Amino acid sequence: VTAEKGGYEHFMLKEIHEQPKAYRDTMLGRIDHANHQVVLPELKLSVEQIKNIRNVHIVACGTAYNAGLIGRTVIEQFARIPVENDVASEYRYRSPIITPETLVIVVSQSGETADTLAALREARANGAHVLAITNVVGSSIARDADDVLVTLAGPEIAVASTKAYTSQLIAFYLFGLYLAQVRGTMNKEEVAHVLAAMEALPEQVEAMLGQADPIKTYAEHIAKHKHLFFIGRGQDYAVVQEGSLKLKEISYIHSEAYAAGELKHGTLALIEEGIPVISLVTQESVMEKTVSNIKEVKARGAEVLAISYEEHAAELLKSVDHVITIPKTLPILTAAISVVTLQLLAYYASLALGHDVDKPRNLAKSVTVE
Ligand code: AGP
Repeated sequence: VTAEKGGYEHFMLKEIHEQPKAYRDTMLGRIDHANHQVVLPELKLSVEQIKNIRNVHIVACGTAYNAGLIGRTVIEQFARIPVENDVASEYRYRSPIITPETLVIVVSQSGETADTLAALREARANGAHVLAITNVVGSSIARDADDVLVTLAGPEIAVASTKAYTSQLIAFYLFGLYLAQVRGTMNKEEVAHVLAAMEALPEQVEAMLGQADPIKTYAEHIAKHKHLFFIGRGQDYAVVQEGSLKLKEISYIHSEAYAAGELKHGTLALIEEGIPVISLVTQESVMEKTVSNIKEVKARGAEVLAISYEEHAAELLKSVDHVITIPKTLPILTAAISVVTLQLLAYYASLALGHDVDKPRNLAKSVTVE
């Protein structure tokens, strides 16, 4: 069994460490370096269809849904197409407005999630073109979709999804750029700039994985708590939603992820002496605002960790109790780096509490009932 785990104690840790390879494999053959562009010859979606897309619905469950939240910001920023995110189990029952100009993107690691499959069928029956982002080529979702963009994360065994999520992010970056090229919303230099930053991601993540000790120490500290909060703005808010899910799923510590600016509309009532608040602070355009939200919770006794870039550490330490630094990338790509810290945090918290990291209670790897 240890051999299967490649020398790692758990599949989850092995899969966290496989992320640099998953990023490279998912990008492989999809970047035309000579012309600084993304090539996705596997897609049937025509240039004409892409030009006509009026709106995008991203539909998925759990961690795949959280990847879709990043997908939304990527498609909106790169291609300027309006995007809505839906939880698959809700999508069908809200009579979504679907036209032939609607592109529906379903995201699923396994390709077998019943709710996601049902949403896909509903979308197709209503005339949408459906693109599946999945990790399993022969899956039901891959077979039923009009188009498939495969993530090359390799088999994911741990119930808690890690490398599948980050490979889905890579797929969204590639697809977002592809839409932008066709629709002319980004020029060659802009695309080249993003591609160069994307290609640096695997090495940046490798460097992080070699410096996990501060995360382990902090995880052992939060393992003593029953409740905690995550806060962030923009992309950071989307990433902390994934971090909170991961922590709940395997450590059974209750946490909530909040948009930093939304705390004062109710949740602040729950902040009491010593409660951990984990703030993800990578979006420089809103950093000052997040820092004022941090001060709001500090003033009520919270103990705050900030996850940010080295260059902001000294300044942040004036307002928070701990800082963990991560490598810097473009604001739009930051999730592919910052989430790794939150995955490790969940892993080490679960380990410290003696839980079954790879097989958390009550959960299945693939949920095939609606
Ligand atoms: C992730 O850690 C969870 N185990 C879960 O939320 C999962 O992402 C969800 O069930 C969707 O699965 P899928 O990607 O295989 O469709």
